Parts: sequence; C-alpha cells; structure tokens
Amino acid sequence: MDKLIITGGVSLDGEIRISGAKNAALPILMGALLSDSAVRVGNVPHLHDITTTLELLGRMGVTITVDERSGVVIDPSTLTDTEAAYDLVKTMRASILVLGPLLAKFGTADVSLPGGCAIGSRPVDLHLRGLEQMGAKIKVENGYIRATSGNGLKGAHLMMDQVTVTGTENLMMAATLAKGRTIIENAAREPEVVDLANYLNSMGAEITGMGTSKIIINGVESLGGTQYDILPDRIETGTYLVAAAMTRGKVKLKDTDANQLESVLLKLKEAGADIAVGNDWITLDMHGKRPKAVNIRTAPYPAFPTDMQAQFTALNSVAEGSATIAETVFENRFMHVQEMQRMGADLQIQGNTVLSNGEGRLTAAPVMATDLRASASLVLAALVADGATVVERIYHIDRGYECIEEKLQQLGAKIRRVPSSA
Ligand code: EPZ
Repeated sequence: MDKLIITGGVSLDGEIRISGAKNAALPILMGALLSDSAVRVGNVPHLHDITTTLELLGRMGVTITVDERSGVVIDPSTLTDTEAAYDLVKTMRASILVLGPLLAKFGTADVSLPGGCAIGSRPVDLHLRGLEQMGAKIKVENGYIRATSGNGLKGAHLMMDQVTVTGTENLMMAATLAKGRTIIENAAREPEVVDLANYLNSMGAEITGMGTSKIIINGVESLGGTQYDILPDRIETGTYLVAAAMTRGKVKLKDTDANQLESVLLKLKEAGADIAVGNDWITLDMHGKRPKAVNIRTAPYPAFPTDMQAQFTALNSVAEGSATIAETVFENRFMHVQEMQRMGADLQIQGNTVLSNGEGRLTAAPVMATDLRASASLVLAALVADGATVVERIYHIDRGYECIEEKLQQLGAKIRRVPSSA
C-alpha cells in the first residue's frame, strides 16, 4: 500500500483549486438511475470513491462515459441488473444510495448491507424504515437488503428519529417518483443534500424545502436528462485552511464557496486567522503567528461538521492554550488521537471529548491512517512535526482527497508518495 512521507517545518504559502464535493458527487451519480435518459455531471472529483461508484453502476449495465475534463455521462437506460454487490459495498458504505433510486425507478433492489466502519457502527435502519413507510417490502438476509416496491412507492409523512445525511438523500430520491407527496421532517440540511435536490429538480423532480429540516417532494411520472456541475468540497476547503493555519502560513483557495462552511471559518478566525472571502475564493493568512486552540462541538449542519473534527484536533495539538473538542455524531471518531499521541501530541480523551493544553510538540513518527478524515489530520500534523513522518495506509486519503500531495506541494510542503512496491 502506498504511503506518504512528509517533512515538517514549512509554512504553507500559495494557491490551489478546490475539487468538486465527494459527498455530493456520490448521491448525484447514483441518482442518475432515476432518469429515463442520459445525464452529464461536471466538476466530478478524481477520487477512489468515484471510481467505485462508476464501477458499481457499470456492473448494473449502466453506460458510463468519462470525458477528458472532470465530466461523466451516465445513461441508465441500458441497465440490466439491480444489485449492489458485497465486494464493492464493503469498500464504500455510501453504495447504499442506490437503494432509493433502484426501488423508485425499477421496483426492486438487492443491496449488500453496509458493514460498520472505523468511525462507528453506521446502521441504515432509518433508510429502511422510511422506505417501508413509503410501501417498500424489505427483507435483510445473508447480509443483503432485498427490497421491492410492491405496486409502486407511495408518498408518506416521514419523521427522521435522527438527522441522517444519506438517509435523507435516499428517501428524497425514492420520493421523486413515488405516487403523491412525501414530507421528510428532521431532514439533513447539509449543502450536499441541497445540491442533490437542485440536481433532481433539474431532471424534472418537484422538491422544495431543501436546506431546511422539512423537505417536501411531490412525486412525478418520470425524470429526464440534465447537465449539472457538482458544488465545491467544503471539507477539502476546510482541510487546506487548517493546514495553512497550523503551519502559520497563508493560502488562497479557488473554485470554492465560503457560504458552505461558515462554522469552520468562524472557528479559524477565533484561532487567530485573518480570513477574506469572495464569491468563489477564500484566503487565510496567519501572519506567521501560532494559532490559538479553539473549543469545538460537532453536530449536524449548520453546526460544526464532524468531518472537520480530526483536522481541528490536529490544530489544537499545536495551538496555544487549552481547549476541548466534543464529537457528538459518531461514537468512535478519535482513532487519529492515538496516532497523534505517538507524534508527541499532548491530547487526552475523556468520553466523547478530546482535551488539549497546548504543551504538545510534535515529532515525526510512523503513523497509520484509519479513516478518511483521520488520515488527512495525520498529514496536517506531519506538516508541523519535526522530522520526516511516514503515513501508511493512505488509500483512505485517496478516497476523499484529489491529488493531496500535488496540492500540498503547490503550497510548498515537503511531501512525496512512496508507491507500495517501493
Ligand atoms: C454522511 O455519512 C457523510 N458521507 C459522512 O462523511 C459524514 O461524516 C456524515 O454524513 C455526517 O455528516 C456521505 O455523505 C457519503 P449519517 P452518513 O447518516 O450519511 C446515525 C466523510 O468523511 N444513523 O448522517 O452515513 C449514524 O450512526 C464521510 O466524507 C443511524 O443511527 O452519516 C450516525 O451516528 C464520513 N441510522 C448519525 O446517524 C441510520 O439509518 C449520522 O449519520 C442512519 C444514520
């Protein structure tokens, strides 16, 4: 498996382009299954999870054309199979997002039950319960979700017991072709949910309320082709802003949208960053100063995103002063803490909280990535640590960060990838 070698001590300085959002691209590409004709999706990031998604759709017989820029044309009219097999689903839990579209459009779906992952058990009970309330017949056997829509899905008034991003997305997609009106109460409000709704509306769906906790979908007869560009990745944006803050540098991020990560920008200002924003760019400048530690409590959007928790844990480990970070969304999202402690980070875990007191001095160590955002946070820590840090198992990073070493090299970082064969 490839690894990254990062030599710390460089203050980042430069500008890079932000890629399309992974967590919008996944439901949007799978949502193409709902269409009667080809759709073209632009600004698709080059990520391992995207490759997995295209392989999943390809195996169903869907015709896929990838163009030289970052566009994908998907024609679902050639579909021959409605199964999402275990060998792919086990590598990407988000494969569950084919369930709603397959049921709504083809009336049947066999999807491998996603297992847990490093950050938690990640059940999909709320997805299944909502679909059953819309009339689906669902059995879970031999590790597969066997679902049929009976004589077609019907609109329902759904109350989500817990805010779930992909649960909201699955049910919203299923409702676009259901008979009648569906209301999703306590819906996820993430920008990626809004992007998916806008994409579905461009295909002829009738969705309102996206971005609020009450989404209303009036079912339609059919959805057609469209051309749609994915919104920028707010978590990639936040990750590079934290990298610049930790290294006391400055950065300009282009093709991004500051409105999607206000909670992150406010916390970076609290940490002492000088931030300016335009309609498609953000600059951060530390003026060479050490960041101050900040208190964080993760929660569903628009609160502070759990996907930025590991990155701010890295920031606090080199920042001035004491602070606490509480993780309220996932039950086991602190694996990066043990790895950072091996680098000398002075962090203590108490229940769902990480305490830091700003005494830590990071030194290089061989560390191992465990999940997507934890691995990114180890790269950030390595940018500041004394010496050359080796980060193993970086396939986690390649799932969610396009060309991470090239982008960091553009910002002046000393980072290189060592292919596993080496
Ligand atoms: C999405 O995961 C994202 N993935 C995650 O990003 C992100 O961390 C998460 O939302 C929270 O923002 C994609 O969008 C592909 P949830 P998702 O359902 O939808 C519980 C990354 O790094 N829950 O909102 O799987 C669940 O256990 C990834 O890019 C149930 O109990 O997360 C969790 O505690 C990591 N039953 C909470 O809800 C269900 O049926 C929120 O999970 C569904 C969820």
